[in-house]
Amino acid sequence: MFSSTSLISAVLLALSVAAGPVVLIREPSLTLPIVRRFNLTGTTIADADRARAVHLKDNGKKLKSDSQHYRRQSSFNVTNTAVTYTADVGVGSPATTYSLLIDTGSSNTWVGADKAYVQTSTSENTGKSVSVTYGSGSFSGTEYNDTVTLSSDLVITGQGVGVASTSSGFEGVDGILGLGPVDLTEGTVSGGGTVPTVTDNLLSQGTITEEVVGVYYAPTTVESTTNGELTFGGVDTSKTTSNMSYVAITSTSPASAYWGVDQSITYGSSGTEVLSSTAGIVDTGTTLVLLATDAYNTYVSLTGATLDNSVGLLSISSSDYENLQSLFFNIGNQTYELTANAQTWPRSLNTAIGGSSNAIYLIVSDLGSDSGEGLDFINGYTFLERFYSVYDTTNSRVGFATTEHTTDTSN
Ligand SMILES: *[C@@H]1O[C@H](CO)[C@@H](O)[C@H](O)[C@H]1NC(C)=O
Ligand SMILES: *[C@@H]1O[C@H](CO)[C@@H](O)[C@H](O)[C@H]1NC(C)=O
Ligand SMILES: *[C@@H]1O[C@H](CO)[C@@H](O)[C@H](O)[C@H]1NC(C)=O
Ligand SMILES: *[C@@H]1O[C@H](CO)[C@@H](O)[C@H](O)[C@H]1NC(C)=O
Ligand SMILES: *[C@@H]1O[C@H](CO)[C@@H](O)[C@H](O)[C@H]1NC(C)=O
Repeated sequence: MFSSTSLISAVLLALSVAAGPVVLIREPSLTLPIVRRFNLTGTTIADADRARAVHLKDNGKKLKSDSQHYRRQSSFNVTNTAVTYTADVGVGSPATTYSLLIDTGSSNTWVGADKAYVQTSTSENTGKSVSVTYGSGSFSGTEYNDTVTLSSDLVITGQGVGVASTSSGFEGVDGILGLGPVDLTEGTVSGGGTVPTVTDNLLSQGTITEEVVGVYYAPTTVESTTNGELTFGGVDTSKTTSNMSYVAITSTSPASAYWGVDQSITYGSSGTEVLSSTAGIVDTGTTLVLLATDAYNTYVSLTGATLDNSVGLLSISSSDYENLQSLFFNIGNQTYELTANAQTWPRSLNTAIGGSSNAIYLIVSDLGSDSGEGLDFINGYTFLERFYSVYDTTNSRVGFATTEHTTDTSN
């Protein structure tokens, strides 16, 4: 169950008359507090992110190229969820609360990795098996339909929920809240078809009127804290300091299978090109900002950073840090400035990733393959801690806005 202090929900109703029908807009809509958790064992963040990137590319290509035979068997032995944002989600009635990883890069919602699934009167066994492989692990089990409670205002009946009988790579979390496009569920459940996502059902059950998720993260300097918020059905404008700017989902595969956008990146006041305009994705399930190897190498030579093999991250001397300039992410018609401070890993968390407390590590890392493959960057949550992001299924677009943390010097 949710404690009352952990619930924040604000529903403001506004009526707007378009040409024709009256549209009910909830803005900001229904919100859910989220916790950033930190648990890194047995790998580096960069290796975990790269394993995920390889899988996302591979999986996205399969989705595009082979509509009859979706397979998620490509496996990577990185048994770790590294650093994650989780939400407390209730399943069943009365609800059992599960701590689920918030993942815009996958779309099945499932439980049972850690805490066992508790069946109640609302649990319906669909008789189908379910299996999903991720870059950082996998699960398989049985697909149920059950009541899912995100907050007292966000209750979904008959939500497809995977119940894991086996899983790997999800130690410390109970499963995933899948916020990716519904097509990513194709082929995950026996008998074929897709599994309507949590946001699909919130829309079809009339709980929200636009299929939109707003994600607010803030930079953190402690290992576990509730410092984020998910909003379903709209944008929480109390968390933004600019208008939202939207860009259409990219048409380039495999990024187009996800929350993919076209983006270019320049460095510093001289506007030196780091990444020419190309497709990539925005992903809450990735920690770092991953750039295709050629772009990453440009960044390395511009910054003077060197790879620290013990933590797997770039590290920079304090004098080079003094000279570190902003990275400019050009998306749609907007430019998002990732400041020098925003390019650094929080120093208070250095030892938590096996690093030295005085070092300065950077959150830009190597995707592991050159650009030109249709998924050439991942803006992970270290980027999303500086910009509010919106995942808009209704209008097939992604939006960003600045927040009060965009130019924080907290790291
Ligand atoms: C994963 O690890 C298992 C056991 O250690 C090994 O048999 C398997 O080949 C590995 N798979 C890959 C893809 O490395
Ligand atoms: C589970 O939900 C799906 C999708 O809403 C529906 O088609 C199916 O009939 C349900 N199955 C059971 C056993 O309730
Ligand atoms: C961290 O992960 C380890 C195994 O990898 C697990 O035993 C432990 O419970 C996790 N800790 C937290 C706080 O989630
Ligand atoms: C948002 O857009 C409106 C209308 O275009 C404009 O008047 C306003 O100044 C903008 N607000 C910000 C914070 O940019
Ligand atoms: C960018 O600006 C151009 C010209 O001002 C406009 O036609 C286009 O719709 C804008 N694109 C986006 C994504 O806002």
